[in-house]
Amino acid sequence: MAKILLEHVTKRFGDLVAVNDVTLDIQDGEFVALLGPSGCGKTTTLRLIAGLEVPNAGRIQIGEREVTHLPPRERDVAMVFQDYALYPHMTLLDNIGYPLKVRGVGRREMVSRVTEVAQKLQIGDLLQRRPAQVSGGQQQRASVARALVHQAQVFLFDEPLSNLDAKLRLEARAFLKHLQREVGVTAVYVTHDQAEAMALADRIVVMNYGKIMQIGDPLQVYSRPANTFVASFMGSPPMNLLPCRVDLAAGKIIFDDDYTLDIAAHRDRWRAVAKNGPQVTLGIRPEHISISPTQVPGAIPSQVYAVQPLGGEWLVVTQVGSELVSARLFQDDPPQLAETVWLRFDLARTFLYGSDGELLQ
Ligand SMILES: Nc1ncnc2c1ncn2[C@@H]1O[C@H](COP(=O)(O)OP(=O)(O)O)[C@@H](O)[C@H]1O
Ligand SMILES: [Mg+2]
Repeated sequence: MAKILLEHVTKRFGDLVAVNDVTLDIQDGEFVALLGPSGCGKTTTLRLIAGLEVPNAGRIQIGEREVTHLPPRERDVAMVFQDYALYPHMTLLDNIGYPLKVRGVGRREMVSRVTEVAQKLQIGDLLQRRPAQVSGGQQQRASVARALVHQAQVFLFDEPLSNLDAKLRLEARAFLKHLQREVGVTAVYVTHDQAEAMALADRIVVMNYGKIMQIGDPLQVYSRPANTFVASFMGSPPMNLLPCRVDLAAGKIIFDDDYTLDIAAHRDRWRAVAKNGPQVTLGIRPEHISISPTQVPGAIPSQVYAVQPLGGEWLVVTQVGSELVSARLFQDDPPQLAETVWLRFDLARTFLYGSDGELLQ
């Protein structure tokens, strides 16, 4: 096991900056998720750590060694790919044992080490089968086993669960989390699925356009997004982001020209707001808006636009002027379409973002 350090790493493909000045310090034994939309540079970052790409600038360290220009085989990393990359004509035994074979480990020792890892991953009795003769989840375990078998210092996962159906994906998530706690490996895990990153990682690195937008533990990133990009990416449904105007003198936020939120009690934010200017974006999660069927003081009138069942609760989307606002409703009977309801924002749980999209604090 080892720590991983990236310092000001940049990778360009022609004019495109795939990874833009990324600095990242991953601790020994830490499980870090790289999270972001498709094309934001996650896989490229992983391939830079693996040595499958060479950066244009910056340096990479694994453990105490600088590896920036070392080939993959000298880095001691194991990678699990999205498509598992198992050889179809080989048994699981030979697939999992392949990294040992190429390192010159004898057949007998190979079989013994593969068997031990395979048993831990509960595929010990499938070793004579070929990939097509086992389920998707078992193929995924075989691909993890192949990464584990040569006891690399660092594990790199590139969306390893994205080819599984929803139920298997949840099972595999629990399994990976359990395994990581048990084996304690240093892992970098790429995903575009924020729920998966939240579930698995010790820390989440949110990326967009090759840049790091925020680093933090899952609850930090969820509960205090540093900018509107992270706010709109974390959570399902994501945070409401509403363009507003601040009236500093009155201690009010004016929303859609007509509606006023009295935030005089939250004056601590005023200095940052004053520096930014009056145009801000108000962020509030759907669970921090309550819906009332009747007018209550401080609430904003809105029309019900759509009602979606979420199982034990409802997602109610309402229209306020030209904006759509989502709220979670924890009760049995939701409002009707086009009905007027009153929204009350939990003002202590709101965030104000400046004109550059960064959190005002
Ligand atoms: N070998 C390559 N040649 C040219 N462009 C590439 C190459 N690999 C990746 N890219 C581009 O770099 C950007 C980041 O890609 P990638 O790291 O695969 O994103 P992600 O894994 O987050 O979806 C994308 O715009 C992609 O098209
Ligand atoms: Mg990718």
